[in-house]
Amino acid sequence: MKFFIDTANLAQIQEAYDMGILDGVTTNPSLMAKEGISGEQNILDHYVKICKLVHGPVSAEVISTDYEGMIKEGKALARLHENIVVKVPMTKDGIKAIKYFTSQGIKTNCTLVFSAGQAILAAKAGATYLSPFVGRVDDINWDGVQLIQQIVHIYAMYGYQTQVLAASIRTPLHIVKCAEVGAHVVTAPLSAIAGLLKHPLTDIGLAQFLADHAKAAQSN
Ligand code: E4P
Repeated sequence: MKFFIDTANLAQIQEAYDMGILDGVTTNPSLMAKEGISGEQNILDHYVKICKLVHGPVSAEVISTDYEGMIKEGKALARLHENIVVKVPMTKDGIKAIKYFTSQGIKTNCTLVFSAGQAILAAKAGATYLSPFVGRVDDINWDGVQLIQQIVHIYAMYGYQTQVLAASIRTPLHIVKCAEVGAHVVTAPLSAIAGLLKHPLTDIGLAQFLADHAKAAQSN
């Protein structure tokens, strides 16, 4: 399973990359705004900075909601760097745009996916990645991981090449559960990725090893 980080924060991207486990980055307009990035040129420049930090796919989302606007914006984003993946919302125009981008060899990430039906449409349009929002499904008391499982099953049955990119991940457990059901990729905040490191028995065991080592050193 590939690991993407879900942020536009350069320091956090660098930190995850330095751990040696990072395969790519996803952003969205809210994450860009959170970093205080605004204005068309600043946003484009920021995507280039991210691409220079990470050797892997970087999802950059279109703001347009109409087909022509999505195509114009997506082409400009794709020109920025070879690792840019154009992120397109799950709408009728979005599906048409994904079909077009696929025909042009431009990689896409279909976002704001909440059902298996939407996942089938995106795969038929040739999306490179599909982003079902696990956390937001859980928020309305449905089962986000079960949605990932259902989509992975359907894609495998029909041999769809679209990769299931579990998004809206909130916890380390979300990451493990998505791995269990066969998600191809998870995109998670640094807090959830770093949370995978933690186990109290690791901390207790390490403290004991270091204490024993120190005692042995004193007695020599
Ligand atoms: C993917 O890139 C999505 O935009 C993102 O994971 C959404 O996460 P949220 O539901 O925590 O906002």
